[in-house]
Amino acid sequence: MSEHITLHDTESTIKILSPLDGRLLGSVKAMSQEEVDNEVERAKKAFHEWREVPLSQRAEIMYKAADLLIANTKSLSELLMLEVGKDQKSAESEVTRTADFIRFTADTAKSIHGESIQGDNFSGFSKEKFAMVTREPVGVVLAISPFNYPINLAASKIAPALVSGNTVVFKPATTGSLCGTALANIFLEAGLPEGALTVVTGKGSVIGDYIVTHPDISFINFTGSTEVGLDISKKVHMVPLLMELGGKDAAIVLKDADLPFAAKNIVAGAFSYSGQRCTAVKRILVLNEVADELIRYLKNEIDKLKVGNPLTMPAEVVPLINEKAADFVWELMEDAKAKGAKMIVGGKREGNLIYPTLFDEVTEEMRIAWEEPFGPVLPILRVNTVEEAVALANKSEYGLQSSVFTENITDAFHVASKLEVGTVHINNKTERGPDHFPFLGVKKSGIGTQGIRYSIEAMTRVKATVINLNR
Ligand code: NAP
Ligand code: G3H
Repeated sequence: MSEHITLHDTESTIKILSPLDGRLLGSVKAMSQEEVDNEVERAKKAFHEWREVPLSQRAEIMYKAADLLIANTKSLSELLMLEVGKDQKSAESEVTRTADFIRFTADTAKSIHGESIQGDNFSGFSKEKFAMVTREPVGVVLAISPFNYPINLAASKIAPALVSGNTVVFKPATTGSLCGTALANIFLEAGLPEGALTVVTGKGSVIGDYIVTHPDISFINFTGSTEVGLDISKKVHMVPLLMELGGKDAAIVLKDADLPFAAKNIVAGAFSYSGQRCTAVKRILVLNEVADELIRYLKNEIDKLKVGNPLTMPAEVVPLINEKAADFVWELMEDAKAKGAKMIVGGKREGNLIYPTLFDEVTEEMRIAWEEPFGPVLPILRVNTVEEAVALANKSEYGLQSSVFTENITDAFHVASKLEVGTVHINNKTERGPDHFPFLGVKKSGIGTQGIRYSIEAMTRVKATVINLNR
């Protein structure tokens, strides 16, 4: 059993302020050790009954939760806008995408079958022996979600876990915990029995070590930064981990690419929600021959972006989640400038709002070439050959996704085959969806695979019951 540490109490409530105007939106409990234990205990107790509920009934609860989400789209998207600073369109699409995700999860769970394997496939055994292979829930799943998709990245853990017969202890990101709590209430209203889904609130820096090493947690499904993911993986023993972490997704632009199309895609991929997406395009690797032309198109697209407070205008580039995040992005920009990067556009800041910024002539010495800003700044590294682009792409410690833009499908497949990432998009920006595709990161971008069926498989284990007819 892993070492279980003590949780020291700090303040009893945490105020949640809007990143848009600092207004007080509400507060959540900074739970004490006893309160955390209580939530885990409720989930543990509920497991034995919940796993016995027929799958078709568990699925019905998921469909009901999806309907309730849709019915509450307006209030949930307003909360998303205020709590994590999303623009209205992105907030509404997060809610509808989540409802679609939950429905598809229920459909998928109902279509997963076990198998039977005959013994005589292996030498020395007869077909009188065969294995009935079924999938079992793992127990109590700890779901930890990040701030940037407080509804979607919470539900994408909770729904596959629950529909498979697990119970869930959900720890939302503190900024995002009002949205997370609203989501949990929807699942409960949909008919989950007592304890099937419990919520633990409190700052990760305070409560995190205690909860991840809790002896009654059977599985941890975490999305967040590589720094916290690494920390968890060092502390947890003999508990399976599913982790989606940071990224430094490269858009590789070859010399025969459709440049206006590539620029449009890259700008949308890099700057929507101010780049606060794990899959945002975070660097461009472009062949020198077409770099100047690409930059002209990129600048043109960036100039069209609407920047500001999404409460007052339909902005794509919005204030970052907090001042500290903006300071970090600014620091990377200052470092790039000091080391000689050429700023094409941007470089302006008002509080935690940073204007979309494009840097050319970025070199490997600059932090922006390697670090994940999680903000609206995009570096261009020029290369002389395709091989150089691939080598630079793979030199990153991250391996979430990459894009390759080219009109030559053979080149596209060649580059894709060399890239050390979970997903390569040919002629498209990097992105997670559609949600039934596998979604994973290699190297420091994650452990395991998400995506509807993959998430269900990850949070269930195989059980073999061996039948011997020939006694
Ligand atoms: P974060 O700071 O790592 O926080 C993620 C979650 O972990 C939050 O719920 C946080 O709680 C909790 N946490 C913090 N310290 C913890 C600890 N010691 N033990 C256990 N839990 C702890 O990440 P974020 O700022 O919310 O999100 C941005 C990062 O997430 C970026 O790096 C981004 O690339 C990554 N991300 C990756 C994916 C993906 O699918 N690959 C998706 C989204 C985001 P508190 O909020 O209370 O601190
Ligand atoms: O932030 C990480 C999300 O998994 C990205 O999802 O590509 O749909 O924005 P997205």
